[in-house]
Amino acid sequence: MEIRVKKGILTKTKGTVCLLGFFEGEGKKGNIASLDPALNGKLKKITSSEGFNGKFLETILIRPEGKIGFERLVFVGLGKRTEITEDRLRKAMGRGTTFIQKMGLPDITIDCDSSLLKKIQTAQIAQAMIEGVLLSLYQFDCLKTDPSDKKTIKKITLLTSKEKELPQIEQGALRGKIIAEGVCYTRDLCSLPSNIVTPTYLANEATQIAQEGGMSVEVLDQEEIKTLGMGAFHAVTLGTDEPPKFIVLKYKGTPKGARKRPIALVGKSVTFDTGGISLKPSENMEQMKYDMSGGAIVLGVMKAIAQLKPTIDIIAVLPATDNMPSGKAVHPGDVVTSLSGKTVEIINTDAEGRLCLADALTYATRLKPAAMIDLATLTGACVIALGQHAMGMMGNNPRLLSQIQDAGEAVGERTWELPLWDDYFNQIESSVADLQNVGGRRAGTITAGLFLKQFVGETPWVHLDIAGTSWYDDSKNPYVPKGASGVGVRLLMQYITALSKGRKS
Ligand code: BES
Ligand code: ZN
Ligand code: ZN
Repeated sequence: MEIRVKKGILTKTKGTVCLLGFFEGEGKKGNIASLDPALNGKLKKITSSEGFNGKFLETILIRPEGKIGFERLVFVGLGKRTEITEDRLRKAMGRGTTFIQKMGLPDITIDCDSSLLKKIQTAQIAQAMIEGVLLSLYQFDCLKTDPSDKKTIKKITLLTSKEKELPQIEQGALRGKIIAEGVCYTRDLCSLPSNIVTPTYLANEATQIAQEGGMSVEVLDQEEIKTLGMGAFHAVTLGTDEPPKFIVLKYKGTPKGARKRPIALVGKSVTFDTGGISLKPSENMEQMKYDMSGGAIVLGVMKAIAQLKPTIDIIAVLPATDNMPSGKAVHPGDVVTSLSGKTVEIINTDAEGRLCLADALTYATRLKPAAMIDLATLTGACVIALGQHAMGMMGNNPRLLSQIQDAGEAVGERTWELPLWDDYFNQIESSVADLQNVGGRRAGTITAGLFLKQFVGETPWVHLDIAGTSWYDDSKNPYVPKGASGVGVRLLMQYITALSKGRKS
C-alpha cells in the first residue's frame, strides 16, 4: 500500500474519491459547509432532505459533477465534535474505507482538514486515520487460490491545506502504517492453521524480525528446555511430534551507557491446543489454532519495534508447542518440577497454557525486567465473563496495572481488572504437590491468574487473558473484521511509546 501526504486545497485537487469526516450537526457551518457553493448546494440537500447529519459512522456519497476536482466525495459521520476521540476517528475512517472499497476504486484521498481538531494532536490524527484505513482493509485470503473480494485500493493520500502540518502528518501516517502492519501480521499468524504455523515457523519468524531490527534471538529446542529445568513447559511438549521451541528475542533501545532494566513481554504460543489427554470436544476444536495469539501479538509488537526503535530495552519470550495426546503425552495426575523449583500436579492437561507460562515467566523474571506483561488465550471462563469487548487483566502492581489500563483505553483496546485475592488460593492447592494446575469451576480466570502469580516473584507483572478478544465471531467495529483481531498489539505499542517518551533523558 502506497501512502502519501500532500499539500493542496480540496476544491482544486483532482482525484477519484475523497473521504471527509463530518461532525454531527455541522452541515451549516465550518469547513465542510464552506464547500457547499462548489457543490451547488448539494450538501444542504443531503442534510435537509436525505437526513444525513454526520451521526457517528453514518456514510453518504456525493458526485460533485465537475465543480470539484474529485469525481466522488464520501462523507462519514464523526459524531459530535465534543465527543471525538482518536478511536472514533479510527472507526470512522475504517467505515469510510470499506464503503469505498466496495465501490471497487483504486485510491483514496483523505481530507485531513475536515477532521483537524485542537483536542487531538495532528500526528495522532494522521496515525489514527491510517490505522483505521489499513486495519479495515485487512482480509485473510492468502490461502485462497482465487480470492473473491479483490483488494482494489492501492494508494492513500492524506490531503492538507496547511503547509506547517505536513511534517506531523507524515510522521503520524508512518507510525500508523508501521503499527497497522504489526497488527495485520499478528492477525495473519493467528489465522494461519497449525500445519503452517508450527513452533519452528514462529522461531523462523522471530529470527527474521531479529535480523530486520538488529535484535538478538535465541531458540531452545526440546532437549535444552528439559536440561534447563523447565519441567512444566516440557510436560506440555511431551505429546507432540512437532518440535517445540522456546523463543527469546532481545531488543536494545537504551542509549549506550544508560543502564535501564528491560520490559519483558511473554506470549502463550500453543500452536494447537487439542487439550492433550484431557481431550477437548471436536466441535469448534479447529479454533484452537489461535491459541498462540499471545505469541503472535508479541511478535507483531517486535516487528513494529524493529522499525520504530523506541529508546527502551524489550525482551520477548515465547514458549511454543502443540498440545497433543499420544502415548508419550503427560498424564492427568503427573507431577512435574517447574523452572522455579515449585512442583505442580497436572490435574487437567487442557490447562496447559499456565504450565507453559509458569516457566516462561520464571525465565523472564531472571532477566530482571522492570515490568513484565504476559498475554495468553488462557481460559474459556474469560470468554464467558467479558466476551470480546475487554481483556481480563490481573497483576501484582497497581502502577503497572493502571499504565496498561490507560494504554488500552487510549487506543480502544479495553482491559478489565479481576482481583487476585489470596482467598482464591486454596482452589489451586494440591494434596500431593505445591500447586495444581486447575482450580475448579468457580472464578476460572482468576485461579489461572493466581497460578501464574506464583512464578513472578517480586517482578511488577500484569497478565492479560485474551481468550475472548483474540478472535471475533462477528464484529461491529469497522476496523476489526471478523476473525483474528490482533487486539493487544496497539495496547502494547501505546504502553511502550509512553515509556520510551518518559525515558528519553
Ligand atoms: N486455550 C484454552 C482456553 C481458550 C478457550 C482459549 C476458548 C480461547 C477460547 C485453554 O488452554 C484451556 O483449555 N483452558 C481450560 C482450562 C480448564 C481446563 C481449567 C478451559 O478454559 O476450559
Ligand atoms: Zn487447553
Ligand atoms: Zn490453550
